[in-house]
Amino acid sequence: MLELIQKRRSCRNFTDKKLTHDQTEQLLKSALWSPTSKNNRPWEFVVVEKTETLDALSQCKPHGAAFLSGAPLGIVVLGDPAKSDVWVEDCSIAAIMMQMTAESMGLGSTWIQVRLRLDEEGNMAGENVKKIIHAPDELEVLGIMAFGHKAKEREPYTEHVLLWDRIHFEKF
Ligand SMILES: Cc1cc2nc3c(=O)[nH]c(=O)nc-3n(C[C@H](O)[C@H](O)[C@H](O)COP(=O)(O)O)c2cc1C
Repeated sequence: MLELIQKRRSCRNFTDKKLTHDQTEQLLKSALWSPTSKNNRPWEFVVVEKTETLDALSQCKPHGAAFLSGAPLGIVVLGDPAKSDVWVEDCSIAAIMMQMTAESMGLGSTWIQVRLRLDEEGNMAGENVKKIIHAPDELEVLGIMAFGHKAKEREPYTEHVLLWDRIHFEKF
């Protein structure tokens, strides 16, 4: 597990190769098996493979989402605040679980932040995303996870980037 954690780096350049049905299913299983507060499971996931939809989603905010148009797969992660007051935590855990599962299959991934982000006109990026995927009003968008085959490998993390000074024992 530690090796996978060290190896996982955000990937924003993907080859044209599609994911298999089995690979996508494994990503989704890891999300659906994720722990949630009180086992509320307040998340919803929208699997997007159509180029037009990925293109549209890549425009939901001005920075940090454009590369989604070159990804073969995006998974929009949404939460229901009526089902859990900690939906952000629950959805975040599911998102990182999918990223780690992708890494375990040799696939690349990147988290695209949507919650709290605005577009150029000052509209909530999440509202733009909801319109594109026809999501119900009451849901909130956490983010979009981009997945695909890595166009190039990135160096894994090394020991010397570990911020050991952030670790405190017994007292701060
Ligand atoms: C909560 C969160 C939001 C992020 N949002 C974006 C984003 O909108 N666009 C993007 O390209 N990368 C995004 N990233 C990826 C980070 O930029 C990346 O994880 C960070 O620079 C560390 O690099 P690494 O993933 O290679 O370890 C996000 C990551 C996290 C955890």
